Amino acid sequence: MPFPDPRYLVAFHPKRVMHFFTDVLVIGGGLAGLRAALAVDPKLSSLVVTKDGLNESNSAKAQGGIAGVLAPDDRFEDHVADTLQAGGQLCDEAVVERVVREGPERIRELIQWGTQFDRKGDRLALGREGGHGRERIVHALGDATGKEVMRAVVARVEASPHVDVWRDTYTIDLVTFEGTCRGALLWNHRYGLSVVWAKQTILATGGAGQLYRETTNPDVATGDGVAIAYRAGAELRDLEFVQFHPTVLYIAGSSRSLISEATRGEGARLVDRHGRRFMPDYDSRAELAPRDVVSNAIVAEMERTQHPNVYLDLTHLDAELVRTRFPGIAAICAEFDLDITRDRIPVRPGAHYMMGGVTIDLDGRTTVPSLWAAGEVTASGLHGANRLASNSLLEALVYGMHAGEGASRAAAEVDDSFTAPGVDNAEVESVGEPLNLDDIRNSLKSLLWRNAAVRRNAEGLSEAIENLRHWCRYVLARQFSDPTGWELQNMLCVARLMISAAADREESRGAHVRTDFPDRDDRQWAHHVTFVRSPRNPEYGCNCGKAK
Ligand code: SIN
Repeated sequence: MPFPDPRYLVAFHPKRVMHFFTDVLVIGGGLAGLRAALAVDPKLSSLVVTKDGLNESNSAKAQGGIAGVLAPDDRFEDHVADTLQAGGQLCDEAVVERVVREGPERIRELIQWGTQFDRKGDRLALGREGGHGRERIVHALGDATGKEVMRAVVARVEASPHVDVWRDTYTIDLVTFEGTCRGALLWNHRYGLSVVWAKQTILATGGAGQLYRETTNPDVATGDGVAIAYRAGAELRDLEFVQFHPTVLYIAGSSRSLISEATRGEGARLVDRHGRRFMPDYDSRAELAPRDVVSNAIVAEMERTQHPNVYLDLTHLDAELVRTRFPGIAAICAEFDLDITRDRIPVRPGAHYMMGGVTIDLDGRTTVPSLWAAGEVTASGLHGANRLASNSLLEALVYGMHAGEGASRAAAEVDDSFTAPGVDNAEVESVGEPLNLDDIRNSLKSLLWRNAAVRRNAEGLSEAIENLRHWCRYVLARQFSDPTGWELQNMLCVARLMISAAADREESRGAHVRTDFPDRDDRQWAHHVTFVRSPRNPEYGCNCGKAK
């Protein structure tokens, strides 16, 4: 049987589905998507589609904050240098410069739109996080920055008559005609299958933390955007670089809640099961080293002490400061009888952020004409091999705006006689027994956690590739009729690419740590691993290339 490599996940024929038209279609309702929609010229129409509500995204759950050069004695050069240092020589300097220099303007714009950042007297209160040489993180509601930022941005979207929002709408695939993106095939309870034809489309679907058993990400983060861009022919890159947040609450029965890095910025310490502080043994920046260093050290300590977690200790800090700065974390821990001012918090790393994704240029264009992208779904060149803390909401704001403006300008140039091209996709005959999709999904998450998490090696990665190939053979050969099946197909697609990139990169760099190749190898590996779908090579489903 040939390896299944469907261009579209479901059968559709233009005569048998509902049709809608918009100038700019934005796929994804997190910060990048909404900022993009707000950048579209109000004379044009724009439609945001999101598979859940507007409060279910990594943006809305963000605790730490947004990094920006806002203190009078901070310097753009220093924020740029910290970002490049964390990125392990794979950042694009022009991108880093642009994002860092535009950051303060985007943050001030959020304030104008009503975001209430925390203040110290009449100034913004600035926090510190790992890898930053100084305090430069604006935050809100203590440790619920994303909630407050999204409140203000959603209110702005709701007050913008030219922006329509479809919630609970799943994007199955991008529709392309002669290589150009013409919109997307969608599904929701209201219309069933429908095609939204768009003059320009922006992908802002976020990350893929749900590929791992241990993750800080919400249920919606299943990598859909990366998979649909791949099927549409877009170039992907850097997929081997997955950031593991060092401190995820680890209590049996609790959700794996993030314990913000801002706690360490305020002086929290990491200790082993015996109460011994260990980070100074690993890095002179101790708890404020970049996340790859801290996650790796935690895994080493878990192995050394034969204990399933380490502990985050805030008990030496001023109790009042801890309660007011971290009210959300205090409340989550209190549900499990932990008083964070007196008890140590059990933590261990979890999948947090995808540095890799859809390749974009400085303005947010992908390699597919008329398709743009912004935020975590992209590999913009800002993060390289490891993202600096609190640079992600910053990227969402800057690239959301540029992708929105670029798509808006391009849409204005497409005339209205634009008609729906004839595309269709044949139905696949249903084969064999019904599948237990939850079982495959859980097995996939456990496999990636065991074989491709903080530390990887050739043996574990090749076992993962074999399993994935096997699952893909029977899951991708079918057509499903609801999001559970489509999500699993997307997760398998992204996992396969991620693992093959990780197996390919025989060195350690940033968040990609190979125990069998522990050193960084700039001579052979100071470049990106890229993928483009190739129907001629469906088993691997990609051309694996190298790009500077
Ligand atoms: C955190 O609060 O630790 C997460 C912030 C981020 O991922 O940048």
